[in-house]
Amino acid sequence: MNHTIKTNRLDLQPLNESDFDFVQKLRTRPEYFKYENDGAYNDDEITKQFNEFLEGAKNLPNKGSIQWIIKSNDVKVGEVHLWCNWEKTHEWEIGWHFLLEHWGKGYATEAAKTVLQYAFANFRINRIMACPNAENARSTALCERIGMIKEGHVREVRLINGVYYDEAIYGILKREFNPAK
Ligand SMILES: CC(C)(COP(=O)(O)OP(=O)(O)OC[C@H]1O[C@@H](n2cnc3c(N)ncnc32)[C@H](O)[C@@H]1OP(=O)(O)O)[C@@H](O)C(=O)NCCC(=O)NCCS
Repeated sequence: MNHTIKTNRLDLQPLNESDFDFVQKLRTRPEYFKYENDGAYNDDEITKQFNEFLEGAKNLPNKGSIQWIIKSNDVKVGEVHLWCNWEKTHEWEIGWHFLLEHWGKGYATEAAKTVLQYAFANFRINRIMACPNAENARSTALCERIGMIKEGHVREVRLINGVYYDEAIYGILKREFNPAK
């Protein structure tokens, strides 16, 4: 299975070697590390993560990981990824990042919802969770738009540039996912 997916407006293509430059561009954008890191990833970290996604895809569908590069009219606009947190309990985690110039068009909602639908149908998953920085309002709004339920709030578990941040915990179970909503 090659896990390519199409929606009305978007192509979701599993990561391949030729996507490295795009991933590097995403990972060095300030809008990415603002809520995630002390600064941009360096090349070694980007390469390590990139290779982990390529390798992880070989272990699907029961475990592993996958990163989809999202294209609109053949232009790369962002990424959505999934990885298996707990193989035994079939819990996976979702994450996303779109280039700032492609925010506010509903691309992230369309892509993330499609990924949930595809993953529940094709991988061995009972629960998908996300843990955005609680101050990342666009990311928490996205969790809610795709039907994830806010399950918790953990305090001061991130330290970015000397400032502590809380995390919001979101989750959705296979039995409650409704693609029509
Ligand atoms: C998180 C992130 C992906 C959300 O992006 P986004 O642009 O807010 O999300 P969408 O693409 O779904 O766009 C939603 C907006 O588009 C609007 N929209 C326009 N056309 C739309 C359409 N056809 N369908 C749905 N929404 C549409 C919505 O009304 C909404 O507007 P609002 O923000 O004013 O409420 C983005 O902010 C990002 O990449 N951030 C940096 C990386 C990051 O922080 N990742 C999270 C780590 S946990």
